[in-house]
Amino acid sequence: NNLAVFASGSGSNFQAIVDAIKQGQLDAKVVLLVCDKPNAFVLQRAEKEGIPYFLFNPKDYPNKTAYETIILANLQKLSIDYIVLAGYMRLIGETILSKYEEKIVNIHPSLLPAFPGKDAIGQALQAGVKVTGVTIHYVDEGMDTGTIIDQHAVSISPDDTKESLQKKVQEIEHQLYPSVLKRLLKKIVNT
Ligand code: GRF
Repeated sequence: NNLAVFASGSGSNFQAIVDAIKQGQLDAKVVLLVCDKPNAFVLQRAEKEGIPYFLFNPKDYPNKTAYETIILANLQKLSIDYIVLAGYMRLIGETILSKYEEKIVNIHPSLLPAFPGKDAIGQALQAGVKVTGVTIHYVDEGMDTGTIIDQHAVSISPDDTKESLQKKVQEIEHQLYPSVLKRLLKKIVNT
């Protein structure tokens, strides 16, 4: 069960997955981090954990196919079984999708199909909903549109700010992602 995590940001979900593996909760190995942002904190986390990373700048390539071809070569070289998106702020293109069908998952900080795309937490606050949450889904060519694997609700209280709500959502994410991955690897997910 070789995993590649794709992340562009802080990497708290990357860390939660790595920690779950270290604690024996998840029978897998994070073999590679793929990152498109040179300043992302997730790179420091990978270094600390001794996990190799592939850092690339999309602007160095003519198009998505070009950089995804290189990423795909890395994935295949390392016999990656599953791709785990954790705050990777790009759509996956056909080059990778066609080779990893039903093997790519994403976590999104809302109850999809509500509030897809950027700033899902801000969108939920703006909309005034009383409940939001976390969704883990298979990845297809759309933006946060693939088949839903699992969801967990989070209540919004009147005094919640973006920061406080984000904290509540992330606490759920850090529990849910390892547990869903565990079921996924044992092939016991119902969609
Ligand atoms: C998470 O909230 C995730 O749902 C979204 O991006 C955020 C990544 O956070 N897709 P982190 O980098 O794992 O801390």
